Amino acid sequence: MILRELSAVNFKNFLGVEITLNPKINCFVGNNGEGKTTILDAIYYLSFCKSFLNPIDSQNINYNDAFFVLQGEYERSGKTERIYCGLKKGQKKVFKRNKKEYEKLSDHIGLFPLVIISPSDSDLITFGSDLRRKFLDGIISQFDSVYLENLLIYSKAVNQRNALLKYFQKNRTFNQDQLDSWDNQLVKYGEVLYEKRKKLIQELTPVFQRYYNQISGGREQVELVYQSQLMEGDFLKQLRNSLPEDMRKLFSTVGVHKDDLVFQISGRPIKKFGSQGQQKSFLIALKLAQLEFLKNTVGIHPILLLDDVFDKLDEDRVAHILEMVNGNTFGQIFLSDTHPKRIEDILSRLKLESSVFEVSNLEIQKR
Ligand SMILES: Nc1ncnc2c1ncn2[C@@H]1O[C@H](COP(=O)(O)OP(=O)(O)OP(=O)(O)O)[C@@H](O)[C@H]1O
Ligand SMILES: [Mg+2]
Repeated sequence: MILRELSAVNFKNFLGVEITLNPKINCFVGNNGEGKTTILDAIYYLSFCKSFLNPIDSQNINYNDAFFVLQGEYERSGKTERIYCGLKKGQKKVFKRNKKEYEKLSDHIGLFPLVIISPSDSDLITFGSDLRRKFLDGIISQFDSVYLENLLIYSKAVNQRNALLKYFQKNRTFNQDQLDSWDNQLVKYGEVLYEKRKKLIQELTPVFQRYYNQISGGREQVELVYQSQLMEGDFLKQLRNSLPEDMRKLFSTVGVHKDDLVFQISGRPIKKFGSQGQQKSFLIALKLAQLEFLKNTVGIHPILLLDDVFDKLDEDRVAHILEMVNGNTFGQIFLSDTHPKRIEDILSRLKLESSVFEVSNLEIQKR
Protein backbone atom coordinates (compact mmCIF):
# COMPACT_ATOMS: atom_id res chain seq x y z
CA MET A 1 0.00 0.00 0.00
CA ILE A 2 1.28 3.44 -0.92
CA LEU A 3 0.20 6.92 0.12
CA ARG A 4 0.61 8.99 -3.04
CA GLU A 5 -0.74 12.39 -1.99
CA LEU A 6 -1.41 13.98 1.37
CA SER A 7 -3.15 17.24 2.10
CA ALA A 8 -3.82 18.95 5.41
CA VAL A 9 -5.89 22.06 6.10
CA ASN A 10 -5.81 23.67 9.56
CA PHE A 11 -4.32 20.53 11.05
CA LYS A 12 -2.35 21.87 14.02
CA ASN A 13 0.26 24.32 12.67
CA PHE A 14 -0.37 23.49 8.99
CA LEU A 15 -2.92 25.86 7.44
CA GLY A 16 -2.76 24.31 3.99
CA VAL A 17 -0.18 21.84 2.67
CA GLU A 18 -0.28 19.37 -0.16
CA ILE A 19 2.53 16.92 -0.88
CA THR A 20 3.27 14.22 -3.41
CA LEU A 21 5.06 11.37 -1.72
CA ASN A 22 7.80 8.94 -2.62
CA PRO A 23 6.60 5.31 -2.87
CA LYS A 24 9.56 4.16 -0.76
CA ILE A 25 11.28 6.47 1.77
CA ASN A 26 10.07 9.95 2.78
CA CYS A 27 12.11 12.03 5.22
CA PHE A 28 10.78 15.12 6.94
CA VAL A 29 13.59 17.28 8.25
CA GLY A 30 13.56 20.59 10.10
CA ASN A 31 14.04 22.25 13.45
CA ASN A 32 12.15 21.51 16.64
CA GLY A 33 8.51 22.50 16.60
CA GLU A 34 8.26 22.98 12.81
CA GLY A 35 5.74 20.17 12.32
CA LYS A 36 7.62 16.99 11.36
CA THR A 37 5.76 14.83 13.88
CA THR A 38 2.50 16.54 12.92
CA ILE A 39 2.86 15.30 9.34
CA LEU A 40 3.43 11.75 10.56
CA ASP A 41 0.45 12.18 12.87
CA ALA A 42 -1.74 13.24 9.92
CA ILE A 43 -0.82 9.98 8.17
CA TYR A 44 -1.55 8.05 11.38
CA TYR A 45 -4.92 9.82 11.62
CA LEU A 46 -5.95 8.63 8.19
CA SER A 47 -5.35 5.00 9.24
CA PHE A 48 -6.69 5.05 12.80
CA CYS A 49 -9.24 7.92 12.77
CA LYS A 50 -7.37 9.53 15.65
CA SER A 51 -4.11 11.20 16.60
CA PHE A 52 -1.34 9.17 18.21
CA LEU A 53 -0.30 12.21 20.21
CA ASN A 54 -3.43 14.00 21.32
CA PRO A 55 -6.55 11.97 22.13
CA ILE A 56 -8.67 15.14 22.26
CA ASP A 57 -9.68 15.53 18.61
CA SER A 58 -10.60 19.21 18.75
CA GLN A 59 -7.10 20.14 19.98
CA ASN A 60 -5.72 19.06 16.61
CA ILE A 61 -7.59 21.91 14.93
CA ASN A 62 -5.43 24.99 14.32
CA TYR A 63 -5.76 27.40 17.26
CA ASN A 64 -7.22 30.10 15.03
CA ASP A 65 -9.74 28.01 13.17
CA ALA A 66 -12.88 25.95 13.64
CA PHE A 67 -12.21 22.88 11.49
CA PHE A 68 -9.53 20.68 10.00
CA VAL A 69 -9.49 18.47 6.92
CA LEU A 70 -7.04 15.68 6.09
CA GLN A 71 -7.05 13.85 2.79
CA GLY A 72 -4.96 10.98 1.51
CA GLU A 73 -4.81 9.37 -1.89
CA TYR A 74 -3.60 5.79 -1.65
CA GLU A 75 -2.83 2.95 -3.95
CA ARG A 76 -4.09 -0.18 -2.28
CA SER A 77 -4.37 -3.64 -3.86
CA GLY A 78 -4.02 -2.06 -7.30
CA LYS A 79 -6.80 0.49 -6.75
CA THR A 80 -6.80 4.20 -6.01
CA GLU A 81 -8.48 4.98 -2.69
CA ARG A 82 -9.35 8.43 -1.37
CA ILE A 83 -9.66 8.85 2.37
CA TYR A 84 -11.17 12.01 3.83
CA CYS A 85 -11.26 13.08 7.45
CA GLY A 86 -13.00 16.28 8.51
CA LEU A 87 -13.62 17.69 11.97
CA LYS A 88 -15.60 20.81 12.84
CA LYS A 89 -15.46 22.13 16.39
CA GLY A 90 -18.36 20.74 18.42
CA GLN A 91 -19.37 18.26 15.74
CA LYS A 92 -18.87 14.60 15.04
CA LYS A 93 -15.80 13.60 13.03
CA VAL A 94 -16.58 12.72 9.41
CA PHE A 95 -14.62 9.91 7.78
CA LYS A 96 -15.09 8.97 4.13
CA ARG A 97 -13.64 6.33 1.83
CA ASN A 98 -14.03 7.24 -1.84
CA LYS A 99 -16.63 9.92 -0.93
CA LYS A 100 -18.80 7.44 1.00
CA GLU A 101 -19.10 8.19 4.70
CA TYR A 102 -18.46 5.38 7.16
CA GLU A 103 -21.32 4.42 9.48
CA LYS A 104 -18.86 3.31 12.15
CA LEU A 105 -15.23 4.45 12.35
CA SER A 106 -14.29 0.92 13.46
CA ASP A 107 -15.09 -0.25 9.91
CA HIS A 108 -12.08 1.74 8.71
CA ILE A 109 -9.54 0.47 11.26
CA GLY A 110 -7.22 -2.09 9.73
CA LEU A 111 -7.97 -1.29 6.09
CA PHE A 112 -4.91 0.94 5.79
CA PRO A 113 -2.47 -0.84 8.13
CA LEU A 114 0.23 1.23 9.75
CA VAL A 115 2.91 0.84 12.41
CA ILE A 116 4.56 3.74 14.21
CA ILE A 117 7.84 3.77 16.09
CA SER A 118 8.16 6.86 18.27
CA PRO A 119 9.86 8.10 21.44
CA SER A 120 6.71 7.35 23.43
CA ASP A 121 7.24 3.62 22.82
CA SER A 122 9.48 3.64 25.88
CA ASP A 123 6.26 3.94 27.91
CA LEU A 124 5.67 0.29 26.98
CA ILE A 125 8.66 -0.62 29.13
CA THR A 126 8.34 1.90 31.93
CA PHE A 127 4.59 2.07 32.49
CA GLY A 128 2.14 -0.52 33.82
CA SER A 129 0.61 -3.59 32.21
CA ASP A 130 -2.35 -1.60 30.89
CA LEU A 131 -0.26 -0.15 28.03
CA ARG A 132 1.17 -3.54 27.08
CA ARG A 133 -2.34 -5.02 26.94
CA LYS A 134 -3.37 -2.10 24.72
CA PHE A 135 -0.36 -2.81 22.49
CA LEU A 136 -1.42 -6.46 22.06
CA ASP A 137 -5.08 -5.50 21.58
CA GLY A 138 -4.09 -2.87 19.00
CA ILE A 139 -2.19 -5.40 16.89
CA ILE A 140 -4.97 -7.99 16.93
CA SER A 141 -7.71 -5.43 16.27
CA GLN A 142 -5.96 -4.37 13.07
CA PHE A 143 -6.76 -7.74 11.46
CA ASP A 144 -9.55 -9.22 13.60
CA SER A 145 -12.66 -7.08 14.02
CA VAL A 146 -14.41 -9.73 16.16
CA TYR A 147 -11.60 -9.41 18.69
CA LEU A 148 -12.35 -5.73 19.27
CA GLU A 149 -16.05 -6.45 19.75
CA ASN A 150 -15.26 -9.24 22.25
CA LEU A 151 -12.90 -6.95 24.09
CA LEU A 152 -15.58 -4.28 24.46
CA ILE A 153 -18.14 -6.80 25.75
CA TYR A 154 -15.59 -8.27 28.16
CA SER A 155 -14.59 -4.84 29.54
CA LYS A 156 -18.24 -3.93 30.04
CA ALA A 157 -18.85 -7.21 31.88
CA VAL A 158 -15.91 -6.51 34.23
CA ASN A 159 -17.31 -3.06 34.99
CA GLN A 160 -20.79 -4.49 35.61
CA ARG A 161 -19.40 -7.20 37.88
CA ASN A 162 -17.45 -4.58 39.85
CA ALA A 163 -20.57 -2.42 40.15
CA LEU A 164 -22.51 -5.45 41.40
CA LEU A 165 -19.88 -6.18 44.06
CA LYS A 166 -20.24 -2.59 45.28
CA TYR A 167 -24.03 -2.84 45.21
CA PHE A 168 -23.90 -6.03 47.34
CA GLN A 169 -21.70 -4.33 49.90
CA LYS A 170 -23.69 -1.11 50.05
CA ASN A 171 -27.03 -2.87 50.45
CA ARG A 172 -25.73 -5.75 52.54
CA THR A 173 -27.14 -8.25 50.13
CA PHE A 174 -25.94 -11.03 47.79
CA ASN A 175 -27.41 -12.76 44.75
CA GLN A 176 -25.51 -15.68 43.22
CA ASP A 177 -27.58 -15.74 40.01
CA GLN A 178 -26.77 -12.13 39.20
CA LEU A 179 -23.09 -12.75 39.82
CA ASP A 180 -23.15 -15.93 37.73
CA SER A 181 -24.50 -14.10 34.72
CA TRP A 182 -21.46 -11.76 34.71
CA ASP A 183 -19.04 -14.57 35.52
CA ASN A 184 -20.33 -16.51 32.53
CA GLN A 185 -19.80 -13.51 30.28
CA LEU A 186 -16.25 -13.05 31.58
CA VAL A 187 -15.46 -16.69 30.90
CA LYS A 188 -17.12 -16.76 27.47
CA TYR A 189 -15.32 -13.68 26.12
CA GLY A 190 -12.19 -13.78 28.31
CA GLU A 191 -11.18 -17.22 27.07
CA VAL A 192 -11.37 -16.08 23.44
CA LEU A 193 -9.21 -13.03 24.22
CA TYR A 194 -6.72 -15.23 26.09
CA GLU A 195 -6.34 -17.70 23.22
CA LYS A 196 -5.88 -14.94 20.64
CA ARG A 197 -3.32 -13.06 22.73
CA LYS A 198 -1.41 -16.30 23.39
CA LYS A 199 -1.35 -17.18 19.69
CA LEU A 200 -0.20 -13.69 18.70
CA ILE A 201 2.71 -13.75 21.16
CA GLN A 202 3.76 -17.22 19.98
CA GLU A 203 3.83 -16.04 16.37
CA LEU A 204 5.40 -12.66 17.09
CA THR A 205 8.27 -13.94 19.25
CA PRO A 206 10.54 -15.58 16.62
CA VAL A 207 10.16 -12.61 14.26
CA PHE A 208 10.93 -10.20 17.10
CA GLN A 209 14.01 -12.20 18.16
CA ARG A 210 15.31 -12.24 14.60
CA TYR A 211 15.03 -8.41 14.34
CA TYR A 212 16.63 -7.92 17.74
CA ASN A 213 19.57 -10.09 16.73
CA GLN A 214 19.93 -8.14 13.48
CA ILE A 215 20.04 -4.82 15.32
CA SER A 216 22.22 -5.90 18.25
CA GLY A 217 24.51 -8.33 16.45
CA GLY A 218 23.10 -11.25 18.46
CA ARG A 219 24.78 -10.33 21.70
CA GLU A 220 21.95 -11.10 24.11
CA GLN A 221 18.83 -13.22 24.25
CA VAL A 222 15.44 -11.46 24.40
CA GLU A 223 12.04 -12.88 25.24
CA LEU A 224 8.36 -11.88 25.30
CA VAL A 225 6.65 -13.65 28.19
CA TYR A 226 2.86 -13.71 28.29
CA GLN A 227 1.46 -13.74 31.83
CA SER A 228 -2.20 -14.53 32.33
CA GLN A 229 -4.09 -15.91 35.29
CA LEU A 230 -5.97 -18.05 32.78
CA MET A 231 -2.84 -20.20 32.50
CA GLU A 232 -3.22 -21.15 36.15
CA GLY A 233 -6.36 -23.24 35.70
CA ASP A 234 -10.09 -23.13 35.04
CA PHE A 235 -11.20 -19.49 34.73
CA LEU A 236 -14.68 -19.99 36.21
CA LYS A 237 -13.27 -21.86 39.17
CA GLN A 238 -10.75 -19.07 39.77
CA LEU A 239 -13.53 -16.46 39.60
CA ARG A 240 -15.51 -18.39 42.25
CA ASN A 241 -12.42 -18.85 44.45
CA SER A 242 -11.56 -15.16 44.25
CA LEU A 243 -15.01 -14.03 45.38
CA PRO A 244 -14.09 -13.38 49.05
CA GLU A 245 -11.11 -11.25 47.95
CA ASP A 246 -13.16 -9.49 45.25
CA MET A 247 -15.87 -8.67 47.81
CA ARG A 248 -13.25 -7.16 50.07
CA LYS A 249 -11.51 -5.16 47.35
CA LEU A 250 -14.75 -4.36 45.46
CA PHE A 251 -13.30 -5.25 42.10
CA SER A 252 -12.62 -8.35 40.03
CA THR A 253 -9.10 -9.56 40.72
CA VAL A 254 -9.04 -12.43 38.22
CA GLY A 255 -9.26 -12.32 34.43
CA VAL A 256 -7.57 -11.25 31.21
CA HIS A 257 -7.89 -7.60 32.29
CA LYS A 258 -4.93 -8.49 34.55
CA ASP A 259 -2.77 -9.96 31.74
CA ASP A 260 0.76 -8.72 31.18
CA LEU A 261 3.47 -9.09 28.60
CA VAL A 262 6.86 -9.22 30.28
CA PHE A 263 9.88 -8.00 28.31
CA GLN A 264 13.04 -9.91 29.18
CA ILE A 265 16.70 -9.60 28.30
CA SER A 266 19.03 -12.46 29.22
CA GLY A 267 16.24 -13.87 31.39
CA ARG A 268 15.65 -10.68 33.39
CA PRO A 269 13.14 -7.82 33.10
CA ILE A 270 14.51 -5.27 30.62
CA LYS A 271 12.92 -2.44 32.61
CA LYS A 272 15.37 -3.04 35.45
CA PHE A 273 18.34 -4.64 33.71
CA GLY A 274 18.45 -3.26 30.15
CA SER A 275 20.67 -0.35 29.07
CA GLN A 276 19.05 2.58 27.20
CA GLY A 277 20.42 1.31 23.88
CA GLN A 278 19.19 -2.22 24.59
CA GLN A 279 15.75 -0.89 25.49
CA LYS A 280 15.63 1.19 22.31
CA SER A 281 16.71 -1.76 20.14
CA PHE A 282 14.15 -3.98 21.91
CA LEU A 283 11.31 -1.58 21.10
CA ILE A 284 12.38 -1.11 17.48
CA ALA A 285 12.60 -4.91 17.02
CA LEU A 286 9.18 -5.32 18.62
CA LYS A 287 7.56 -2.79 16.28
CA LEU A 288 9.28 -4.18 13.19
CA ALA A 289 8.02 -7.63 14.19
CA GLN A 290 4.53 -6.16 14.53
CA LEU A 291 4.82 -4.79 10.99
CA GLU A 292 6.05 -8.05 9.49
CA PHE A 293 3.32 -9.97 11.31
CA LEU A 294 0.64 -7.56 10.06
CA LYS A 295 1.93 -7.76 6.51
CA ASN A 296 1.79 -11.55 6.54
CA THR A 297 -1.66 -11.57 8.14
CA VAL A 298 -3.46 -8.96 6.05
CA GLY A 299 -1.42 -9.35 2.87
CA ILE A 300 -0.84 -5.60 2.53
CA HIS A 301 2.44 -3.78 3.16
CA PRO A 302 1.71 -1.53 6.15
CA ILE A 303 3.02 2.03 6.20
CA LEU A 304 5.90 2.52 8.63
CA LEU A 305 6.29 5.80 10.52
CA LEU A 306 9.61 6.45 12.28
CA ASP A 307 9.33 9.51 14.48
CA ASP A 308 12.67 10.72 15.85
CA VAL A 309 13.91 7.14 15.97
CA PHE A 310 17.46 8.09 15.01
CA ASP A 311 17.89 10.48 17.88
CA LYS A 312 20.88 9.34 20.00
CA LEU A 313 21.85 6.60 17.55
CA ASP A 314 25.21 6.70 15.79
CA GLU A 315 25.48 6.95 11.99
CA ASP A 316 26.24 3.24 11.55
CA ARG A 317 23.11 2.18 13.40
CA VAL A 318 20.95 4.64 11.46
CA ALA A 319 22.35 3.27 8.19
CA HIS A 320 21.83 -0.28 9.44
CA ILE A 321 18.17 0.32 10.34
CA LEU A 322 17.53 2.14 7.05
CA GLU A 323 19.04 -0.74 5.09
CA MET A 324 16.90 -3.18 7.04
CA VAL A 325 13.61 -1.35 6.47
CA ASN A 326 14.46 -0.86 2.83
CA GLY A 327 14.18 -4.64 2.28
CA ASN A 328 11.26 -6.36 0.60
CA THR A 329 9.35 -6.98 3.82
CA PHE A 330 8.78 -3.26 4.15
CA GLY A 331 6.67 -0.95 2.06
CA GLN A 332 6.49 2.82 2.27
CA ILE A 333 8.34 4.60 5.05
CA PHE A 334 7.99 8.07 6.58
CA LEU A 335 10.55 9.40 8.98
CA SER A 336 11.33 12.58 10.85
CA ASP A 337 14.78 13.82 11.77
CA THR A 338 16.40 17.04 12.89
CA HIS A 339 19.68 16.30 11.01
CA PRO A 340 19.10 16.84 7.26
CA LYS A 341 22.76 16.44 6.37
CA ARG A 342 23.24 13.14 8.16
CA ILE A 343 20.13 11.56 6.68
CA GLU A 344 20.88 12.80 3.16
CA ASP A 345 24.44 11.47 3.34
CA ILE A 346 23.26 8.03 4.44
CA LEU A 347 20.49 7.88 1.81
CA SER A 348 22.86 8.75 -1.01
CA ARG A 349 25.61 6.43 0.28
CA LEU A 350 23.16 3.52 0.40
CA LYS A 351 21.54 4.63 -2.88
CA LEU A 352 18.06 4.34 -1.38
CA GLU A 353 15.00 5.54 -3.30
CA SER A 354 13.80 8.52 -1.29
CA SER A 355 12.51 12.07 -1.05
CA VAL A 356 13.58 14.56 1.58
CA PHE A 357 11.17 17.33 2.61
CA GLU A 358 12.13 20.43 4.54
CA VAL A 359 9.50 21.45 7.08
CA SER A 360 9.67 25.10 8.09
CA ASN A 361 7.55 28.24 8.39
CA LEU A 362 4.29 26.30 7.98
CA GLU A 363 5.46 24.94 4.65
CA ILE A 364 6.80 21.67 3.30
CA GLN A 365 9.30 21.90 0.46
CA LYS A 366 11.04 19.09 -1.38
CA ARG A 367 14.82 19.50 -1.05
N1 LIG B 1 -3.82 23.04 17.58
C1 LIG B 1 -2.70 23.62 17.18
N2 LIG B 1 -2.73 24.72 16.39
C2 LIG B 1 -1.58 25.31 15.95
N3 LIG B 1 -0.35 24.86 16.26
C3 LIG B 1 -0.26 23.77 17.05
C4 LIG B 1 -1.42 23.09 17.53
N4 LIG B 1 -1.02 22.04 18.29
C5 LIG B 1 0.34 22.07 18.27
N5 LIG B 1 0.80 23.09 17.52
C6 LIG B 1 2.20 23.46 17.21
O1 LIG B 1 2.57 22.71 16.09
C7 LIG B 1 3.99 22.60 16.03
C8 LIG B 1 4.35 21.24 15.49
O2 LIG B 1 4.91 20.40 16.42
P1 LIG B 1 5.62 19.02 16.02
O3 LIG B 1 5.54 18.18 17.22
O4 LIG B 1 5.03 18.48 14.77
O5 LIG B 1 7.11 19.49 15.74
P2 LIG B 1 8.38 18.66 15.29
O6 LIG B 1 8.86 19.27 14.03
O7 LIG B 1 8.10 17.22 15.32
O8 LIG B 1 9.41 19.06 16.46
P3 LIG B 1 10.49 18.19 17.26
O9 LIG B 1 11.75 18.19 16.43
O10 LIG B 1 10.68 18.98 18.51
O11 LIG B 1 9.95 16.84 17.50
C9 LIG B 1 4.49 22.99 17.42
O12 LIG B 1 5.15 24.22 17.30
C10 LIG B 1 3.22 23.10 18.24
O13 LIG B 1 3.33 24.09 19.21
MG1 LIG C 1 8.72 15.68 16.57
